[in-house]
Amino acid sequence: MVLIAPSILAADLANLKSEVEAVTAAGADMLHLDIMDGHYVPNLTFGPGLVKTLRPYTRLPFDVHLMVTEPEVMVPWFVDAGADIITVHYEAAVHLDRTLAEIRNAGKKAGVSLNPATPENVLEYVLDKLDLILVMSVNPGFGGQSFIPSQLEKIQRIKSMIGSRNIQIEVDGGINPMTAAECAAAGADILVAGTSVFSGGDYRKNIEALR
Ligand code: DX5
Ligand code: ZN
Repeated sequence: MVLIAPSILAADLANLKSEVEAVTAAGADMLHLDIMDGHYVPNLTFGPGLVKTLRPYTRLPFDVHLMVTEPEVMVPWFVDAGADIITVHYEAAVHLDRTLAEIRNAGKKAGVSLNPATPENVLEYVLDKLDLILVMSVNPGFGGQSFIPSQLEKIQRIKSMIGSRNIQIEVDGGINPMTAAECAAAGADILVAGTSVFSGGDYRKNIEALR
């Protein structure tokens, strides 16, 4: 069964504590935290202080998605803030191999994200050093964008590339009940969803619809 990771980017930011509690009660499997620095992507969100502040209000794993330049600088900040998974962008990590090792050495799961235009084979030589591959199915920076269909083939290719390794495939952007089914069929293990989880009042129903 596919896991659902709500992105709090689409939550009511003025009521984050209750939103996190509500989505936890509604059956989310992990919490996706979108960190944007205004340089790597044309948007700015929040930092480790907010992540740390939210940590006591849910037992869900914290899935931190770093959309930042020089992610290696920020890795220790989010380790301290309580992250469980730390994902850096392939395109932003100059010394990816080293950065993945630093995340794992801190006892966290190491993820790499690929933008829609980045092919999966760039990860060939780090497959034994990562725990998760995050396929961006939109261009990173904003919630509410449309799913890019070409990424379904990428998910399938990643699935065969990882073989029997213990690596999860996560998909982020434009996930709704229809694209969720397509991603799951292609081999996705975790689906990130902002808009489709936090719209309307019934988060449980929304999450169930994605499964
Ligand atoms: C986009 C973020 C996503 C985003 C998904 O840059 O990484 O996590 O919040 O939002 P939706 O589900 O609205 O496409
Ligand atoms: Zn994300």
